[in-house]
Order: sequence, then C-alpha cells, then structure tokens
Amino acid sequence: MYKHNISIVGATGAVGTVFLKMLEDRKYPSSLLRVFASKRSLGKKLDYLDNHLVIEEINDDSFLDSDFVFISATTDISESIADLAVKSGAVVIDDSSAFRLSDEVPLVIPEINSKDLMDHKGIVSIPNCSTTPLAMVLGCLTKLSRPIRVITDTYQSVSGTGSAAVSELLKQSKQIISGEKFDNDVYPHQIAFNLFPHIDDLQPNGYTKEEMKMILETKKILHRPDLEISATCVRVPVFVSHSQSVHIEFEDDVKLDEALGSLNNFSGIKVLDDLTNNTYPTPINSEGKDDVFVGRIRLDNYRSNVLALWIVNDNLRKGAALNALQIFDSMIQMNLVV
Ligand SMILES: NC(=O)c1ccc[n+]([C@@H]2O[C@H](COP(=O)([O-])OP(=O)(O)OC[C@H]3O[C@@H](n4cnc5c(N)ncnc54)[C@H](OP(=O)(O)O)[C@@H]3O)[C@@H](O)[C@H]2O)c1
Repeated sequence: MYKHNISIVGATGAVGTVFLKMLEDRKYPSSLLRVFASKRSLGKKLDYLDNHLVIEEINDDSFLDSDFVFISATTDISESIADLAVKSGAVVIDDSSAFRLSDEVPLVIPEINSKDLMDHKGIVSIPNCSTTPLAMVLGCLTKLSRPIRVITDTYQSVSGTGSAAVSELLKQSKQIISGEKFDNDVYPHQIAFNLFPHIDDLQPNGYTKEEMKMILETKKILHRPDLEISATCVRVPVFVSHSQSVHIEFEDDVKLDEALGSLNNFSGIKVLDDLTNNTYPTPINSEGKDDVFVGRIRLDNYRSNVLALWIVNDNLRKGAALNALQIFDSMIQMNLVV
C-alpha cells in the first residue's frame, strides 16, 4: 500500500525521533526509508519495527531515489540542502523557518489551508510549533465572526529548542536538587525552576524572532495580512507541550455556546473545559496526543466581541512531526505527487 521513498534529515533529533515513531506506528516499510543526521551520528542504528535504520551522511546523490525529503535539522541545513532535494526530484517538507515566509513556498496546516499545497514548487513549509495551534483556533472561529485583533502569551517547553535543551533541563534540575553547581549551555539563564520572556533573537521592533514568526506566519496561513497580532513568547521549565493564553477580538459580538460548538466540531481540536472538575488542558495531559486542546473559554468581562481561551498542544506532534505527516498524506490524496 505504501510506495513513496522517504528520506528523513535530522532523524536523531527531537522532532525526527517522533516523526520516525509515527511512521513506525503506521508500519511504513523500512525499505522505503533513509535516515540522515550529522557526522556525529554516522553509522548509528535506529531501532525501527523489527529491523533498524542506519544513519547516513548527506552527499550529492543522497536524494536521487527519494519522493519526499523531510528536513528537521536547522535552518542553515534546510537552506543548504532543500535545493539539492528538489533537483533530485523529491518534494521537500521542511520543519525549519528557512522558507516559511517565501512567496514561492506554501506554509500549511492541512485542516486550515491544504488548498495552498496546489501552488507548491517543490518545497512546503510547516509552521512554528506555537503558530500552528493559534492558527487552527483562529481558522475555526473565523466561521463565527472575523477576528480583527489577537493577543497571545506563550508558555513554551524546552523540547521546542531541541534535544540538547531537554537534556539541560533534566541535568540542571537534578544538580539544583542535589545542591551541586550547574552550568547553562543552551539558554542564557537557568531554565530549571525558572522562566524567561526570551525565545530566539531580538528584532529591530523590540519583539523576538519567535514572536514575529507567530505573527507573520499566522497572517500568511489565514491569508489575513490585515489581522493585528501581538505575541509574548516565554520559555518555561516544561519538557514537552506548548501552552498559550489568547485573547481574540472579533468584528462582531460572539456567543460562548457557538464558540464552544465550533471548537468542538473542528477536526484536530478538542475542548477540555470544566474548571469545576479541574478539567482543562495542561502540558502533561497533552503530551503524546495529536489534538490541539482548548479550555478556559470565556467572554471578556468588558467586551462581548472578545473571547479569552487557553490552548495547549504537543509541540513535537501537531507542532511539527504530525503536521508534516498530514502534509504528506494531503499531497498524496490531492494527487500532487505521483
Ligand atoms: N522542536 C520542536 O518543537 C520544533 C517544532 C517545529 C519545528 N521545529 C524545527 O525542526 C527542526 C529540528 O528541531 P529539533 O527540535 O528536532 O532539533 P534537535 O533535537 O536539535 O535535532 C537536530 C537534528 O539535526 C541533525 N543535524 C545536525 N547537523 C546536521 C547536519 N550537518 N546534517 C544533517 N543533520 C544534522 C541532528 O543530528 P545529530 O543527532 O547527529 O546531531 C539532529 O538529528 C528545526 O529546524 C526546528 O526549528 C522544531
């Protein structure tokens, strides 16, 4: 049933590992897979079904037999190899921010804008891991009324930075509890038992690059250049899953029951909203799950055209690997690849 050759670049990383596990869950044949990582991992064996896959290093001929190349490494690597993959005849599905804002490259969440895939020229980008859940909720609620202004504050886990940051949080936590000295290599501050409003580089307008990714990517996905968005992105000492507190101002008044109904019926979104029984999304109860979870849904105290809500998603799944896999599925269903 499966016939497409898939190459995974960054197969040993935080996202690549989850991506490979999702293929394994589908029993995707190992004979159709090739895995790549850095020189450090060359020859390393990754368990896969009842077999294993051996990490290779990229060279000019690496992608000649690939139908799809999933790149989940770094922006620099995506920039340096995407062209090679496209010239080799493959479709690139890229996790990095390298091409997300390029006019030539669709930036896709299949539940929202799968039609944009029809314009692909060999590369498709997946959005930032906090952009995806926000754009899904906005895309869903647009049916009620047109959003005109959005304010979001995020609480982002360390796996969003990659596997080195996961190790740093674990090691630092143990060191601090044991009263030992500790270093921070990945982040500018201690991350264990701390948090900081700083993700990625400062931009000339005072926002960080992560905040601007959320703003610009959401506008592109929703085809809403006019949508006003403000974001504050915060790194928190959580291993997996990103959370955000969002206020959405609509053109018209909105009704709470209609918002709940729309969110409940939207594919890929699950409402968990029963505060009396301590039920709402948390990073722990979202980890390993595919859905974008929404809770604490309420009307603003002062304005009946403003909704407040709380969104949590597994950044490694819908924020990255799952969205990439859904793009792969959509492109096949839409006959965009042979
Ligand atoms: N983490 C998330 O939640 C998330 C969400 C959305 C998008 N993304 C994007 O996905 C990408 C990967 O993120 P991650 O969190 O998985 O990072 P990560 O854990 O640091 O993994 C990086 C991967 O890239 C590989 N790599 C490094 N240098 C390489 C080279 N020269 N050639 C080939 N492979 C190389 C690494 O291999 P070694 O093991 O050999 O070093 C590793 O497999 C990034 O672009 C990130 O922005 C991440």
